Amino acid sequence: MKHDLLGLKELTAEQIKNILDTAAEMKKIVMADSKKTDMLKGRTVVNLFYENSTRTRMSFELAAKYMGANSANMTASGSSIQKGETLRDTGETLDAMGTDILVMRHHRSGAPHFLSQFVQASVVNAGDGMNEHPTQALLDMLTMLEYKKHIEGLKVAIVGDISHSRVVRSNIYGLTKLGAEVTVGGPKTLMPIDVDRLGVKSYDNVHEAILDADVVMGLRIQMERQHKGLFPSLGEYYRFFGIDSRRLKMAKPDAIVMHPGPVNRSVEMSTHVIDGEKSVITNQVTSGVAVRMAVMYMLTNGGF
Ligand code: CP
Repeated sequence: MKHDLLGLKELTAEQIKNILDTAAEMKKIVMADSKKTDMLKGRTVVNLFYENSTRTRMSFELAAKYMGANSANMTASGSSIQKGETLRDTGETLDAMGTDILVMRHHRSGAPHFLSQFVQASVVNAGDGMNEHPTQALLDMLTMLEYKKHIEGLKVAIVGDISHSRVVRSNIYGLTKLGAEVTVGGPKTLMPIDVDRLGVKSYDNVHEAILDADVVMGLRIQMERQHKGLFPSLGEYYRFFGIDSRRLKMAKPDAIVMHPGPVNRSVEMSTHVIDGEKSVITNQVTSGVAVRMAVMYMLTNGGF
């Protein structure tokens, strides 16, 4: 039986904890001088990306290399996808080449779930439309654990474009399953009307959203997913919702600042905050390699 990672909605708290425990061990390898292991020796990992990426694609590729796997990248541009090949045909073609793990980013929500039905390879969702980005939330939780030592009882404030964010959805599923209190903040036009049904509190005022938070996470304003003027300008967004040093004082004194990247400086956060002493954004990137190593190792060794 093959195993996939399609979303955190589908995982239990126990499974999420198992991944985080494994990722904590993997992080020691990422931090070591010599990163070469043979945990995935002989296995083949293909990164199939229909959308742009720096962090996710590179970290999956490096994670595969650190574990001794064969790895290859494929993007929509320059491939037969441009000639009209369907997702199913592309996936089945890569499957027929001996792919063991198919890491996939797609602009359509549910695309990895669809493809999983037709391939023998384990499918890892590397971001599907506005649905989920499970490995991002896992790396966020691993980073929180490093700084805060626990997830249960943490107050995590997530500010930005809640409607279009797959990162926030995966974080809400994961964090609430592990017992964190999640608040979301942003303009009403970027807030799903039924967000409270996900077990979070929502605010259209950044001060209230951040108040007493242990973790303050900014989200990227996703211009590519906005087809209507949902706020007047980036400058106005920053004026009302941007996280700057003054607003950050609303959080707990030892709060950490996170962002999944890529960050729009002086839109979601001030440069002072991004590069400040509370920022753990660079550590998130390192955690990303560890989480992806853990996920790929576990998928090929019985699942989570
Ligand atoms: N956080 C994230 O998914 O970044 P990339 O788009 O660079 O992969």
